Amino acid sequence: MADSVTITDNRTGQSIEVPITDGGVSATEWSKLLPGLWFYDPGFSSTAECESSITYIDGDAGILRYRGYPIEQLAEHSTYLEVAYLLLNGELPTTAELETWEGEIRRHTFIHENMRKRFLDGFHYDAHPMGMLVSEIAALSTFYPAAKRIFDLGQRHEDIVRLIAKTPTLAAAAHRHSAGMPFVYPDNALSFAENFLSMMWKMAEPRYEAHPTLARAIDVLFVLHADHEQNCSTTTMRVVGSAHADPFSACAAAAAALYGPRHGGANEAVLRMLTAIGSIENVPDFVRSVKEGHGRLQGFGHRVYKNYDPRAKIVREIAYQVFEVTGKNPLLDIALKLEEAALADEYFVSRKLYPNVDFYSGLIYQAMGFPVDMFPVLFAIPRTAGWLAHWAEMLDANTKIARPRQLYTGSPERPYVAIGERT
Ligand code: CMC
Repeated sequence: MADSVTITDNRTGQSIEVPITDGGVSATEWSKLLPGLWFYDPGFSSTAECESSITYIDGDAGILRYRGYPIEQLAEHSTYLEVAYLLLNGELPTTAELETWEGEIRRHTFIHENMRKRFLDGFHYDAHPMGMLVSEIAALSTFYPAAKRIFDLGQRHEDIVRLIAKTPTLAAAAHRHSAGMPFVYPDNALSFAENFLSMMWKMAEPRYEAHPTLARAIDVLFVLHADHEQNCSTTTMRVVGSAHADPFSACAAAAAALYGPRHGGANEAVLRMLTAIGSIENVPDFVRSVKEGHGRLQGFGHRVYKNYDPRAKIVREIAYQVFEVTGKNPLLDIALKLEEAALADEYFVSRKLYPNVDFYSGLIYQAMGFPVDMFPVLFAIPRTAGWLAHWAEMLDANTKIARPRQLYTGSPERPYVAIGERT
């Protein structure tokens, strides 16, 4: 049997055979038979936007791999910076490469004083930290105008390093500003995760020492969130990048997409849902109300995974390790009961709705003291590596500017109506 599809235009009787390559068919080939007819695919649920060799997901089997490595193995053995290197370069670093890479990141953690004193200070005291982060990332492009030279590989590398190194500094600065606390400068003797926690929580002590379990938990959560192929924010990064915008502007756009509650804000929604449920006795009633169409079970279901999200399994394990240090988040019991009830219920089983990465991550962040507003920010820090890997891959592939078509459903031509004659 041929690995191809044949389409026939019934208006003309003409046919064209299009080969199936890497699980897809070329729309360009297809269009040769059907010029002027567009593929209607709102939400891109049937469209492969690009070829990519970065991340592989098999949603039915619950598989996630970065550059071929199973997420479970990376979460167990790797650090976020190693994974960022892997995503960007295609291979895990050798000891010497990792040392150089970590050194480069360390050298770029500081932000310009104007950024902190003038730009950040201009935000209102109750500004949302994600809104601040989006603006801060965009503002970086004005501090590094050479970033426009996106085809100068040395320049590109420097800006990639800057973005990965500075995002935690900007994120923590946004939090400190909303909490009315003084800015904490990066401590470059610390690891990536420890430094972030220091910038978040340091008070008067000469050096903030993060609990190793908590620093490792943050690092593993960063590994799990580093990439997820063509999600909404990564697609935004590619679309904006295809116009040859500088990487800071493109990353700001991607972060803006992540800000949306359907994307990076779901872990916050889980927390609010668990709080509203209040106790395990209320779980059956809550599940019933979801089945009757009153809202959704937050942290359940995924466009791609029709099985247990492999990240959710790892996050659940980390939750127990974190609670050993912080004390148990009282919402955990409700979450466990909810998961048990949903996984045994025909409604969720038949729709293949399983816990996703957001179901347990919010519980960990809350137990570690992060305010709920910071949850999407915690997602944005590691996803920067994924965005940049896709951006560089898109540039290397010499991708055309993203410019889809539409099916026009508006009015046909009509004559202009003077203002006094309008009804
Ligand atoms: N609770 C109850 N019912 C659900 C849920 C849910 N969480 N998710 C989907 N369904 C039902 C939905 O009502 C529909 O039922 P029916 O066929 O009877 O109309 C069916 O399942 C298919 O849902 P869909 O909306 O067509 O699925 P989708 O692929 O468009 O949506 C989703 C995926 C993640 C937006 C959705 O599952 C959802 O809203 N989940 C809750 C929010 C959430 O946890 N989001 C985090 C996603 S993971 C992080 C990330 O990648 O950004």
